[in-house]
Amino acid sequence: MKKIGILTSGGDCGGLNAAVRSIFYRAKDTYGMEVFGIRDGTVGLMQRPVASIPLDYQTFSGSLLRQGGTFLGTTNKGNPFEFPMPDGTTKDRTADICEGYHLLGLDGLIVIGGDGSMAILDKIAKAGNLNIVAIPKTIDNDVGATESSIGFNTAVQVATQALDNLIHTAASHQRSMILEVMGRDAGHIALNAGIAGGADIILIPELKYSIDNIVKKLTQMKNRGILHSLIVVAEAVKTEEGKKFMVNFADGQKRLGGIGNYLSESIMKKTDIECRVTSLGHVQRGAPPTPRDRILASAFGVYAVDLLAQKKFNRMVAWRDRRVIDVPISEGISTYKVVDKKDSLIETALALGVYVGDLD
Ligand code: F6P
Repeated sequence: MKKIGILTSGGDCGGLNAAVRSIFYRAKDTYGMEVFGIRDGTVGLMQRPVASIPLDYQTFSGSLLRQGGTFLGTTNKGNPFEFPMPDGTTKDRTADICEGYHLLGLDGLIVIGGDGSMAILDKIAKAGNLNIVAIPKTIDNDVGATESSIGFNTAVQVATQALDNLIHTAASHQRSMILEVMGRDAGHIALNAGIAGGADIILIPELKYSIDNIVKKLTQMKNRGILHSLIVVAEAVKTEEGKKFMVNFADGQKRLGGIGNYLSESIMKKTDIECRVTSLGHVQRGAPPTPRDRILASAFGVYAVDLLAQKKFNRMVAWRDRRVIDVPISEGISTYKVVDKKDSLIETALALGVYVGDLD
């Protein structure tokens, strides 16, 4: 294992640069490997010459450890199996990716990605004899087999900070402030930030709710003399009738967004409570990584290089019981980790008097 590559794939998040830095130090200092960063995920391997940068000590002498995003670039569009071509057609570009890996003379590749990217790379690696190891990253924290993925803690920190700011304006105006957070189909960010930020109502896609019960909770608070409140809602929560809120984009794609406004209107129609909505969006992704994410990324990076050095391929690093372990990539992507009704944090929220939806 003399020469290795690193790529970041899928949506960016806090901690990616910290992971790349850790991989570099372990590979260089412990094993004397040459390390190349691949630009823009798998797209870099499709380009000729391959879009890559040799990494050295200079690369990491600045503030990369502290920076959000990924300096290597990434993409969450364009599945290489059906890659969109300039003429409007799609083409299987997986052979180009394998060729790019071999042209660069790589002995191994570390893929930092979410479930989608890992599934794609696992398939390509098996078909094209690429030696890969995966590191899970996603603010949504929905990758299976690991308690945490890089980026989740930073997103929770940002959402909690937003609640810490919103409480003051909520109290000043005696309003209900609704905070819409990311999480695709999983409610981990909403639940964790909601508890940390003292929300009164937390709505997640895993649990049904009713507007009547939201109103009941707000009325109960009013009867206790509390005229302001914080509501956290995950972007994938549906309407009472089960409709998902999607925004149509000019590129023809639909993306989640809008449930906060629906809740605001519904509450205002049934009460005299004034609501305002904040949709947090990509600040959850681009924020500087928390210490926790920097530590997780560093631990994952070191372990991932060790796996390559030991020729243990198609493995994903995972965090379990306060340490890094490794599992087959297939284990990480076979389960989509959502919030369980019996999750102890649901119990915690209930004990704090939070309305989290209807459990039966
Ligand atoms: O999966 C990560 C995530 O941030 C989701 O929480 C969100 O729905 C989505 O990505 C947004 O993706 P994009 O970068 O395409 O706007």
